[in-house]
Amino acid sequence: MRWMPTRSLRAYFDHNAGPLMHKWLHYFPIYQQHLRPFRGRRSTVLEIGVSHGGSLKMWRYWLGRRAHVVGIDIEPRVAGLAEPGIDIMVGDQSDPAFLAELARRHGPFDVVIDDGGHIPAHQIASIEALWPHVRPGGIYLVEDLHSNYWPEMGGRRGAPDTFIAWLGARLDDLHAFHSREDDFQPNDWTSTIAGIHLYDSVAVLDKCAPRPRPEHRKTGFPVFDDVYGRSHDEMLDEHHRRQIAAVGRPLRRLGRLVRHPVVTTRRVLARRR
Ligand SMILES: C[S@@+](CC[C@H](N)C(=O)[O-])C[C@H]1O[C@@H](n2cnc3c(N)ncnc32)[C@H](O)[C@@H]1O
Repeated sequence: MRWMPTRSLRAYFDHNAGPLMHKWLHYFPIYQQHLRPFRGRRSTVLEIGVSHGGSLKMWRYWLGRRAHVVGIDIEPRVAGLAEPGIDIMVGDQSDPAFLAELARRHGPFDVVIDDGGHIPAHQIASIEALWPHVRPGGIYLVEDLHSNYWPEMGGRRGAPDTFIAWLGARLDDLHAFHSREDDFQPNDWTSTIAGIHLYDSVAVLDKCAPRPRPEHRKTGFPVFDDVYGRSHDEMLDEHHRRQIAAVGRPLRRLGRLVRHPVVTTRRVLARRR
C-alpha cells in the first residue's frame, strides 16, 4: 500500500506555504468528494488556469505520486513552473487547435478542472473540445460558474449563450433516451454523460463508456386485482411473468410439502435417483 497524505485538501490549502492559490472555500468538500476515487491511482489530471501554480502542486500532493498533473494557461510565464509530475502548456482554452494538441500530447484525461478565464464562451469551447478526451470513469469539473451571471464576463441570468444555458441543454440530452419528440433524440452527450452534479458555482460531469438505452423492469407479485382498471394479464410483460414463475417455484414446492409431506418427499427422492 502506497503512502497517501491524511491531510484534507482544505488543511493543505490552509497551511499552504508554497505558491499562491486562490479558491472559494465551499469548493473543498466538492473537490474532496469527486476527486477521492482518483487518489493513489495512475491518473492524468488537467487544470485549466495555472496562475502561480499553487493548485497544481496541491492536486499532485493529495492525489499521490502516480498522478500526472497538467496545467494550461494563456500567460507564458507559467511555463517555468513545470516540475517532475507536473507538465505545463501555454495556450488559450478557447482555441480548439491548441486543445487538440494538448490532448494529443497529454490525453486522455481522468480529471479536468476548468479554473481558467471563467468566460462562459470559453468554458463551453473547452468542454466541447476536451470531453471526447476524458476517459470513461473520469470527471469534468467547471468552477466559478457565478461568472455566468456577471455582465463584465458576458453573463446574465437567462442568457442563452452562457455555460449555465449550455448545461441546461446537457440536462435535456441526459434524458433524450426517453424522448417522445422527433427532433429530440439521443446524441453523444446522452450516451457518455453518466451524471451531472451542480453546486453553487461548480458543475461536475461524470463521463461513462457509451451507455445503451436504459431498461426498466417489474418484479414480484401483484397485491391488487387490477390497477387503474387494467388486469394483471394486460400489465405483466414476458420478463415479469418468467420472474414470478421462477421465484414462485420454491414457494409452491414448500406448499406441497406442507400439504402432502410423504408424497412430496417420495417424489423428490425419486427425481434424485
Ligand atoms: C483563477 S486563475 C487560476 C487559479 C489557480 N487554478 C489556483 O487555484 O490558484 C485563472 C488563470 O486562468 C488564466 N487564463 C485566463 N484566460 C485564459 C484562457 N483563455 N486560456 C487559458 N488560461 C487562461 C489566467 O492567466 C489565470 O492564470
